[in-house]
This record gives sequence, structure tokens and C-alpha cells, in this order.
Amino acid sequence: MGPDLERVLLGQSELAEGIARLAAEIDADYNGRELLLVGVLKGAVMVMADLSRALHRPATMDWMAISSYGAGTKSSGVVRILKDLDADIAGQHVLVVEDIIDSGLTLSWLLSNLRSRNPASLEVCTLLRKPDAAKVEIDVKYVGFDIPNEFVVGYGLDFAERFRNLPFIGTLAPHVYS
Ligand code: XMP
Ligand code: MG
Repeated sequence: MGPDLERVLLGQSELAEGIARLAAEIDADYNGRELLLVGVLKGAVMVMADLSRALHRPATMDWMAISSYGAGTKSSGVVRILKDLDADIAGQHVLVVEDIIDSGLTLSWLLSNLRSRNPASLEVCTLLRKPDAAKVEIDVKYVGFDIPNEFVVGYGLDFAERFRNLPFIGTLAPHVYS
């Protein structure tokens, strides 16, 4: 695992089970509707890759890149679009695919931005959710795992761009960020 990680929080099989469960819920809810999956770069890359393949329905994909954290571990509340969607989402059933919701600041900004583009529907699927997310009024329909308030990396999640390619989710050893 290496000296920079403290422990494994969610292993590969747990992640696969969580993704399968989310896909089954989404499949059931979107029966008869074509989905547009909007992935939030870069963290949601792994969730998008696995979730989209676990769905049994037609789905298209688009991506947005926004910045809120810089290289640190605290949300700044300042959100900037680094890459916008390629296409118009008006009239489409949009499902935002997120890696993690922490303070919820990033997501609430993103949702109001997307809502102003008049999609037919707008829902959120996040792999992970931290306890602070409960403080914000966001309706997140699909949640993979509620996790403790620790900084996690792996399966798309980074610390200063490292650890994204880990196939599991682990907690960071304190010496890495303190
Ligand atoms: P907020 O606080 O706005 O944060 O909900 C959401 C974004 O912050 C990043 N984030 C993390 N990234 N490990 C990470 O690698 C974490 O534990 C963590 N918590 C928040 C992430 O980019 C997410 O989209
Ligand atoms: Mg990040």
C-alpha cells in the first residue's frame, strides 16, 4: 500500500458492488429514457467508466472540469469552469456523476449552473459522501457510500494529482498533508 496511505477504506470488490447497486437503481428509475451522463473531471473518471458500463440502457457522456480545491484538502468555495460541456443539455435527462461530495459547495454551484441550461431532468449520482454534505440542502438521489470525515484518495480521487490510479479507496497518512 505504501507509506503515504493509512488504510484501505473501500476495496475493489466493495467498490464494484456499490457501483452495481447504483447502476441497478438508475436502470430502474430511467426506464424508457435516454440518459446523458455528465462526469466531473478528473475525479469522476473511474466512477463514470465503471458505472456507465454497468448500466443496461443507452447513455451518452459529456464532461465538465471545474476547480474548487487547488492542491490542498479544503474546499475554497470558489468554483471555476476549466472545461465546459461540449453540447447543449436543454431537454435532456442529465445525471451528474461525481466522485465525492464533501461540503457540497462545488455541487450546489454546479447544479444551479446546469439547471439554468434547462435540462428535462437533473439528478446526481455520487460514489462517496462525507458527513458535512448533510449541512447543505442538495437532493442527491444516488449515493454509493457514506464515509467518515477523512481525506480519501484512489479510484479517481487525488491529493495534489497523486493516487488517482489506485484501484481502491484509502485514507491518506497525516504526514502527507500536514
Ligand atoms: P465540496 O467540499 O465542494 O468538495 O463538496 C467536492 C470536491 O472536493 C474534492 N474532495 C476530495 N478529493 N479526497 C479527494 O481526493 C477527499 O477526501 C475529498 N473531499 C473533497 C473533490 O474534488 C470533490 O469533487
Ligand atoms: Mg481533487
